[in-house]
Amino acid sequence: MVELAKRNSDKFIIGSEVYENGVATACFSLFKNKIENVRVFHGDVRILLNSFKYRSVDRLYILFPDPWMKKRHKSRRLLSSTNIEFFSKILKSKGAICIATDIEDYHSEIKETFSNLHQFKKLHISPKKKDLSFFLGVETKYEKKAIIKGVPPSYLVYKKV
Ligand SMILES: C[S@@+](CC[C@H](N)C(=O)[O-])C[C@H]1O[C@@H](n2cnc3c(N)ncnc32)[C@H](O)[C@@H]1O
Repeated sequence: MVELAKRNSDKFIIGSEVYENGVATACFSLFKNKIENVRVFHGDVRILLNSFKYRSVDRLYILFPDPWMKKRHKSRRLLSSTNIEFFSKILKSKGAICIATDIEDYHSEIKETFSNLHQFKKLHISPKKKDLSFFLGVETKYEKKAIIKGVPPSYLVYKKV
C-alpha cells in the first residue's frame, strides 16, 4: 500500500485491515514515508465499501486473501460470488479488481466465479506472469513467503466492462 501510494501520489488510496496491529504497522509506515494520500480503515473491508457510492472506485487490490482451507470454512472466503457482485457495484465502469493468491484451489475457485459474471472481462494472459501495469514490482509479505516456499503466486486482473 505504501509503495502503491508513493507511485500514485495523484490518487487517493484506502486500505482496510481487521487486526489492530496491522492497522498500526500500516499507519506507522505511512507516517515514516510521509505519505498523505492514504487512509486506513480498521475493520472489515465490506463495511468500508458499503459506505461508498456506486461506481466510485477505480481499482480494488485483494492480495493474498485468507484462504480458509478447511472445507467447512470455505464459505468465509472474501472472493465469494456474493462479495464480488458487491465489489462490482462500487467499481467504476472499466475499473479493475487485481487479485493475487498462492493457493491453487482458491485460484481455481476465483476463475470459476468470474467466468460466471458477465460484467467482468479477464485481462491477465498468464496468471503466473505478474502484469506490472497493475501490480507492483515490490512484493507483499505473503507474496515473499510464497516465493520463499517455492510456490509461484497467481496474479489475476478482471476489468468491469
Ligand atoms: C494472508 S494476509 C495478506 C496480507 C497482505 N495483503 C499481504 O499480501 O502480505 C490477509 C490479511 O487480510 C486481512 N483480512 C481478512 N479478511 C478481511 C476483511 N474482510 N477485511 C479487511 N481485512 C481482512 C487479514 O487480517 C490479514 O491481515
